[in-house]
Amino acid sequence: MAFEGKMRNSVWIFLVSFATLILRVSGSNCTSSSSLVGLKTDFLMVQHQLRGSLEILDDCTFRVTKFDMLAGTDVYWWGSLGEDFENMTNGFPVSNTKLNQTYRNDTLEVTLQKNYTWEEFKVLSVWDKPTGSDFGHVLLEYYIPETVEYGPPPESGFDGEPPEPAPAPGPASAWAPSANAPSYADEPALAPPEVVLSGQKQPTMFDNCISLTSTFRLRWTLNTVAGTIDVGLEAALSKSQYMAFAWAQTGLKKGFMLGADAVVAGMDEKGLPFAEDYYLGDYAECSWDTNSPSGVCPDSIFAGGYNMGANNTKLVYGQEVDGITLIRYQRTLQGVDATFDVTINTTSSMQVIWAMGMMKPPDLIKHNRTPQNHGPSYGYRKLNVGESVDECLGPMVANTPQTDVVVADRGTTIVVGSDVAVHYPNPPFPKKVLYINQKESPLLRVERGVPVDFSIQAGHDIAFYITSDPLGGATNASEIIYAGGPEVHGVPVIPYPLTWLPNRSTPDLVYYQDYFTQKRGWKMEVVDGGLSDMYNSSAPLADNRVTLFWTVNSNRIYLAVRGEVKSGYLAIAFGSGMVNSFSYVGWVDDQGVGHIEAYWMDGKSASSIHPTGEELSDKKCETRNGIVTFEFSRPLQPSCSKGTLCKNVIDPATPLKVVWALGDAWTSDELTDGNMHTDFSSRSTLISFLLGAAKVEQLQPVLAVHGFMMFIAWGLLLPGGVLGARYLKHLDSNGWFEIHMYSQLSALVVMLLGLLFAVAELHGFNTRTAHMKVGLASIILACWQAINGYLRPSKSVPGEPERTQRTVWQYVHMYTGRSALLLGFISLVTGISQLAERDGVGTMKPLQWALFAWFFAVAAIVGYVEFQGFCSKRHQDTVVFDRILGSEEDVQDLSPHNGSSFFSRDSKDSHPSPARGMEIQLEALH
Ligand SMILES: *[C@@H]1O[C@H](CO)[C@@H](O)[C@H](O)[C@H]1NC(C)=O
Ligand SMILES: *[C@@H]1O[C@H](CO)[C@@H](O)[C@H](O)[C@H]1NC(C)=O
Ligand SMILES: *[C@@H]1O[C@H](CO)[C@@H](O)[C@H](O)[C@H]1NC(C)=O
Ligand SMILES: *[C@@H]1O[C@H](CO)[C@@H](O)[C@H](O)[C@H]1NC(C)=O
Ligand SMILES: *[C@@H]1O[C@H](CO)[C@@H](O)[C@H](O)[C@H]1NC(C)=O
Ligand SMILES: *[C@@H]1O[C@H](CO)[C@@H](O)[C@H](O)[C@H]1NC(C)=O
Ligand SMILES: *[C@@H]1O[C@H](CO)[C@@H](O)[C@H](O)[C@H]1NC(C)=O
Repeated sequence: MAFEGKMRNSVWIFLVSFATLILRVSGSNCTSSSSLVGLKTDFLMVQHQLRGSLEILDDCTFRVTKFDMLAGTDVYWWGSLGEDFENMTNGFPVSNTKLNQTYRNDTLEVTLQKNYTWEEFKVLSVWDKPTGSDFGHVLLEYYIPETVEYGPPPESGFDGEPPEPAPAPGPASAWAPSANAPSYADEPALAPPEVVLSGQKQPTMFDNCISLTSTFRLRWTLNTVAGTIDVGLEAALSKSQYMAFAWAQTGLKKGFMLGADAVVAGMDEKGLPFAEDYYLGDYAECSWDTNSPSGVCPDSIFAGGYNMGANNTKLVYGQEVDGITLIRYQRTLQGVDATFDVTINTTSSMQVIWAMGMMKPPDLIKHNRTPQNHGPSYGYRKLNVGESVDECLGPMVANTPQTDVVVADRGTTIVVGSDVAVHYPNPPFPKKVLYINQKESPLLRVERGVPVDFSIQAGHDIAFYITSDPLGGATNASEIIYAGGPEVHGVPVIPYPLTWLPNRSTPDLVYYQDYFTQKRGWKMEVVDGGLSDMYNSSAPLADNRVTLFWTVNSNRIYLAVRGEVKSGYLAIAFGSGMVNSFSYVGWVDDQGVGHIEAYWMDGKSASSIHPTGEELSDKKCETRNGIVTFEFSRPLQPSCSKGTLCKNVIDPATPLKVVWALGDAWTSDELTDGNMHTDFSSRSTLISFLLGAAKVEQLQPVLAVHGFMMFIAWGLLLPGGVLGARYLKHLDSNGWFEIHMYSQLSALVVMLLGLLFAVAELHGFNTRTAHMKVGLASIILACWQAINGYLRPSKSVPGEPERTQRTVWQYVHMYTGRSALLLGFISLVTGISQLAERDGVGTMKPLQWALFAWFFAVAAIVGYVEFQGFCSKRHQDTVVFDRILGSEEDVQDLSPHNGSSFFSRDSKDSHPSPARGMEIQLEALH
């Protein structure tokens, strides 16, 4: 069979070549002797959203149709012997035609230079000479499937594999399944008998395309494999966004989403593509429960677990190039599953819907990616996939192509290492490239006048240098070398230190490269008047994501804030938290205009942000490569006499606490909770503006110790002593009393020590806050308990009635003790919030909840014991509970079961049950 197939192919090739040789009517004066004449193939997209189909017309002419490309610098038709890095860099321009613009669905007819023939190169690429970039290329060879089988069914019909292409430096992050992948190549076998020989088809090429929105396109091709449709979803997705496309159930007039047969696609956390068959069961997130599935879930969840029958979506290909994600998947036109799949009719218009939204990554609880609500980015329309449509003109442009940026600040060292190339920004590339501060070939930004310290540790085969040549490798005779050279190499153990000072004459763009091999490094942006140049002092704020720069003179302060924000706003605030602070927010709006506003915040919601209208001068806000910088100046002392705003004083001599926040979007109009910060500093940074010094606040250890000691006293020892007094009366002699006394006394000691710690740390007593007031009250009560316990009236002689003094004392001691416990609990809770506030760590909710849980657990045990005692007293009159529940100082009351019930004993003791008192108090705690 295979042999027969090969025979047939050879015969076809021969026939077709022969036919083209004879019949070809060429527009130029060239002959048509090459066997490649007649080849039709697609360009592989590598960069610049290049798409197009190539046809070789004759020995010196080729035609490119449907040609899309984003403009480059100096772009040529480029020939090379292979697809690999070395062969491509050693290539040559094969035509005098230049590609000097952006192309949109263009048709070009190109003539080879006179001295070239098709046999002299194997790869034709679109090559940007100055940057050595391959935008896209074709292999000049026929694509021949090895075995050919006729007819359906599609699943089993094609069991051959396309010849393994040479490992090519393709798009930076492209992926296609390797083994047993559904082929996206045209199969001559399935084509009609009048055979068209073709080169390899590219997964980026589709027959049809419509624009769903300006940033979301749907492409498709029918019957690549008979009875299937290949769908390409193409969108400018940010990280952790998904795109979804669905056919609605037939016959719906509205509410198209319910019951729709969707595919959710995108790039996952690891940068791998996915396309999964979903069913929209409900307007909700997936429950991931195979027993009662609900929401937007994969078909397999609805079909009861991972049942292959329910899955008719095959991921074919995925890539992210120039910030545009393209996912290609294939599905059968016929639904596999009557309930969860919609059968696609290629002769009629059907309702289709789409959406884009955020995707929750898998976590410990849910091992799946969960698509979130899409918000406003969705829509629907009628579509007949059987019609031939092309509505997409030109390449799509991503607003914010994602690039890594490393900024070289004064006093920091840039670590230069090397590692395997994965997402090198400019294919083709060698196997190993430079890593800067562990980022793969990022954009490195340096400032004129600020020396940059490098620590070169990329291995002895790589020598670091800074050059004007984008390619490096010291191959360009006219390049200017700014620093480094062949001797600048090191390893992590013995790094080579290199310092470079960019000066006034350094151009805006230079390159860090390897002296020996081309294209191992990337761009270095040299900026003017860098912040560290213009401001006298600077300090990274807590967590090192935001840097503050400042200059103070006698009455003004000049501030600059710089932070890594992909898009959105950046804010700093003076205070230990965002709440009750004066904050300054910088953002760049949709039109690219920068804004800075001052606010006073007295709460966490959007409604508690009040613009202060403060007059700021020297305002400047810009965003560049994912870094927002804003600058302003303000008087140290606001010029007003009363009101909140007058508190907005900066005293350069006293250290001031500074925190930062950043988030998705800000506006000077009505703010919504959506504007609230999505990320903020974990603690505040203490900045001394006059000294130019900064210190990140640590969790205050002394106060934490204070809190811990108070917990030991109020959470363990005191309640323990009280419970001991209540439940351990059956112990021999005065055992319970000793337990009670010792635990309460040690609690008192721990408590007073804890108080001492706090007083020492805060330099004195003050009772400004609720915590201090309540805490002091509880400590006073505790001391009073110790005193009155010492002064307790003696007990009556056994047999005689209880003395009134003693009874009164018992009441007083019991209720004061319980009030003290309650106050102690309150001060523990308020203490935690206050500690959280001081440290600017936002909240300590978990700790508070743990405290509550602890108290409820104790309360529940007490309640349980009381209840048991109550029941057994009533029903079985046992000794044990009588003992356990013996009333206070009821030491002699060991003479058991006198038939007294709980209540009758109360009456005997002539005071109400302490148990009831305890129960009431517990309820109060709830
Ligand atoms: C083809 O040859 C003819 C005459 O030999 C000449 O007039 C014409 O310009 C040539 N065309 C091209 C494209 O070279
Ligand atoms: C360059 O291409 C030729 C021809 O395809 C191939 O034999 C050679 O191995 C390639 N060079 C490298 C370094 O891969
Ligand atoms: C590109 O080159 C062509 C021909 O040389 C010229 O007509 C065209 O104006 C150029 N386009 C740009 C954008 O420079
Ligand atoms: C073809 O001619 C160009 C200049 O016209 C020259 O640079 C190139 O090396 C030549 N190529 C061959 C294979 O002769
Ligand atoms: C769907 O099928 C494809 C191949 O047929 C497989 O790779 C994929 O894991 C399946 N998905 C699920 C959710 O079962
Ligand atoms: C597809 O739609 C056409 C026109 O509405 C209809 O005649 C045809 O029966 C449909 N085909 C299938 C398979 O449902
Ligand atoms: C692109 O060009 C082809 C002809 O080459 C044409 O059929 C198609 O409509 C064009 N597409 C757009 C979007 O203009």
